[in-house]
Amino acid sequence: MSTDLPKSMDRGFFISLEGGEGSGKTTQINRLVDMLSERGYDVVITREPGGTPEAESIRNLLVQRDGGNWNAMAEVLLLFAARSMHIEKLIKPALNDGKIVICDRFTDSTLAYQGFGRGLALDKIKEIERISINEFKPDLTFILDIDVRTGLNRSNARLSEEDAGEQTEDRFERLDIEFHERLREGFLETARQNEGRCYILNAAQSMDHLSDEIKNIALAKLQGE
Ligand code: TMP
Repeated sequence: MSTDLPKSMDRGFFISLEGGEGSGKTTQINRLVDMLSERGYDVVITREPGGTPEAESIRNLLVQRDGGNWNAMAEVLLLFAARSMHIEKLIKPALNDGKIVICDRFTDSTLAYQGFGRGLALDKIKEIERISINEFKPDLTFILDIDVRTGLNRSNARLSEEDAGEQTEDRFERLDIEFHERLREGFLETARQNEGRCYILNAAQSMDHLSDEIKNIALAKLQGE
């Protein structure tokens, strides 16, 4: 690691990226990892649900088309079970080593999908968050916002490209448009309530402009601005 890294890097830095289907998260995460690695930061990339073997097993139950017909509360409990393992086994150890952890989705997705989307009371989710992970939160969150139809068109195009026969991680993509509208509103509302941490970015703009915005904010935050 280069010597001019900010002092805060002694304890690492935790970044999450959030957004609805087709918001371009994967591309932006890869670009952010490359940009930070080029500058000498030690970066760990991970995802939710998932990130450890146990949490990946839970992911299969939740996101596979035939993984089970869970009610919203069961989903939340499974998500926080996975998240608890993920934090303990991967995220905190990496942060303690001074690394930057970049996570594809985190608790904001649970508020959006299971809360706003599926209608589970937000205070129940927050209570489970408190009990299971002690409200552990990212230092910085990017919310990639896009019009629902544009996002779903992008996401459906990707799913059919990836071979309709093989790709079955689409249980959530298959829900109706109203669900995705509630989801979008959920992310925007969560961002409004967490202004210092969350940045809403327009995911319909060009990939290059979006990655520039992400880069500028991430570097400023890492430098303690
Ligand atoms: P991905 O498609 O971005 O990899 O995310 C997997 C799916 O899991 C996605 O459809 C959203 C869903 N999900 C939730 O419903 N709640 C959560 O807390 C998380 C992290 C993901």
